[in-house]
Amino acid sequence: MIKQEVIESILSVVRIEEVIGEFVSLKKAGNNYRGLCPFHSEKTPSFYVSPAKEIYKCFGCQRVGNAVNFLMEHEKYTYPEALKYLAAKYNIPVEETFTSEEAKKEKEEQSSIFIILNYAQQFFHDYLLNTEEGVSKGLEYFKSRGITHETIKIFGLGMSPSEKDLFTRNALQNGYLEKYLIDSGMSVKTNDGRLIDRFRERVMFPIYSITGRVLGFGGRVLGKATNEAKYINSPETPIFSKGKNLYGLNLAKNSIQKNDKCYLVEGYTDVIALYQQGFDNVVASLGTSLTEDHTRLIKRYTNNLTFIFDGDEAGIKASLRGIDIALKEEINTRIIALPENEDPDSFTKKFNVNDVRLFFKKNETDFILFKTRFLFGNKTDEPLKKAEVVRNIIKSIIQIPNFITRSNYIKELSYELSIEEDILYRELNAQLSAQKTTVSVKKSAPAETTQTQELQKHLRSTVSEQEKNIIRLLIAAGNMDYNALVKCADIIFDHISDTKWEIPEYENIYNYFFSYRQEKKDYPDIKHFIHHPDKTFQQIAAEVSFIDKGISENWSKKTGREVPVSFNFKSEIDSALKHFTLRKYQSMLKENAKKLREKNLTVEEEQHYQEVQKAIQELLVRLTSELGVVIF
Ligand code: CTP
Ligand code: MN
Repeated sequence: MIKQEVIESILSVVRIEEVIGEFVSLKKAGNNYRGLCPFHSEKTPSFYVSPAKEIYKCFGCQRVGNAVNFLMEHEKYTYPEALKYLAAKYNIPVEETFTSEEAKKEKEEQSSIFIILNYAQQFFHDYLLNTEEGVSKGLEYFKSRGITHETIKIFGLGMSPSEKDLFTRNALQNGYLEKYLIDSGMSVKTNDGRLIDRFRERVMFPIYSITGRVLGFGGRVLGKATNEAKYINSPETPIFSKGKNLYGLNLAKNSIQKNDKCYLVEGYTDVIALYQQGFDNVVASLGTSLTEDHTRLIKRYTNNLTFIFDGDEAGIKASLRGIDIALKEEINTRIIALPENEDPDSFTKKFNVNDVRLFFKKNETDFILFKTRFLFGNKTDEPLKKAEVVRNIIKSIIQIPNFITRSNYIKELSYELSIEEDILYRELNAQLSAQKTTVSVKKSAPAETTQTQELQKHLRSTVSEQEKNIIRLLIAAGNMDYNALVKCADIIFDHISDTKWEIPEYENIYNYFFSYRQEKKDYPDIKHFIHHPDKTFQQIAAEVSFIDKGISENWSKKTGREVPVSFNFKSEIDSALKHFTLRKYQSMLKENAKKLREKNLTVEEEQHYQEVQKAIQELLVRLTSELGVVIF
């Protein structure tokens, strides 16, 4: 952990326009800066940076945040990584605190492994380019596979010597410790206690983290694999796990985000071959099936994933498993199957870029169509087979959490197989209830449910708008005087203390503000939230506080819409609280009506509830006429 004082001193010197200016070309616009949004593609700039408020906002894609958020979003840094980046930029020494001795040891172990792997990468790279064996065997091999010098540099490729302990000896001579050589997976101990290299006489593919640190290696035998394994990989270590990393992501991440699409292939050479052809949004899952950790990595950059795989049946079957994982994570999944016996590496070598592009475009298929066609083949007229295939495809469809997407797939499947939707829903439901998550499905269920969902979304959004408004006022004006006696925050607390919140993030801020006032007898201001360590706090604070005259005028000019500029906090608070109260009355009314409908009420009870009903209705009418709203 980075010490709080250090965080504060970093944040106090950061100038947001300087930080963002390194990634976006910004032009002065009044008190602000303006540029093309780096998060979505646009032709006219709607991305603003406000030095005064220390935040950025894009009026196109609505992204907002402070300098730290920007680095987290744009560079995909974690919070501490972003702080360290800023510390380095502004020359502030960072000292980390560790919660326990154990955590400190673990951190030291990890750093030691990182250092060794970095040394190993340089060693192998150097061995490839600058030794006789490296040039005659390694470089020759890469050349035979069409891998250029430039690509070797970009991917940091190398070669491990054939002498069985050359790397280990060198490392020991340079002061690296035996323990870490073993823990990093680079050296192994023989039965008679000698330390030798794990990778011998292989071309070496370093595997990098997103931020470009070496995590491990893959090593391939030169030429044809005989009795030795074709590939050897680093073992699982404290910093490397096959199922958690994607090969090539460090180079591909920006392009994936820009193209809003990620290609997934199987191996090292596939990534490299496609990269050389100009496809730089490609990653490989290192020969393992796709995992949830992989999809989470991909989802940071895009929601569109296209599997490219070998056209043989084994290749396809293996990839179908990964597809279910992607569906479950709500990624739009497409497939490109290459001709039989081709992998991306061999395929791209036979055709030029344009042909490859055309092939990809023509053959990219939605997963459901692909799976259907693949599993069906020519079995359409065997009823038993057909049922089995349908079951199999629906097994994939039920992985999709979103109901609407699911029903679209059912429609497609129904069309593709000429099977009534009803029948497919019955199967879907059977499988879902086998998972103990029953949904009731009638003939018209899909349309009905969609409508209800839409309605609920609408209702929820108006409630959430109201809550957002309260939080906006609390953050922006909480510490200002409402009148000579009380602050704006106090008025808000008085009115809505017993209200149930719909949006947990807003409730958290509300509760935080409340306890802050109780404990510190003080009121946090906007800056406090914008620089709060909790990312949601920062986000919401930036979002609700970005009301700036210059920007607003510009915005109005561009969109023709009004933006409330110099608002009067007091009247805004009054109105927001009235809306809140309105909601409270509405739910009271509903509760009471429910009681009225109960059976076996005594005459007195019924009379009582009717009176209450009338009273609430009167309150409602008064309030609504004040607010000028209509309730249904
Ligand atoms: N792989 C592995 N260990 C193996 C075989 C394969 O880790 N014993 C991984 C590698 O990441 C490899 C990928 O699975 O790149 C795909 O395997 P394969 O298709 O056999 O290799 P290619 O990438 O086609 O390698 P090459 O073209 O060099 O033969
Ligand atoms: Mn290959």
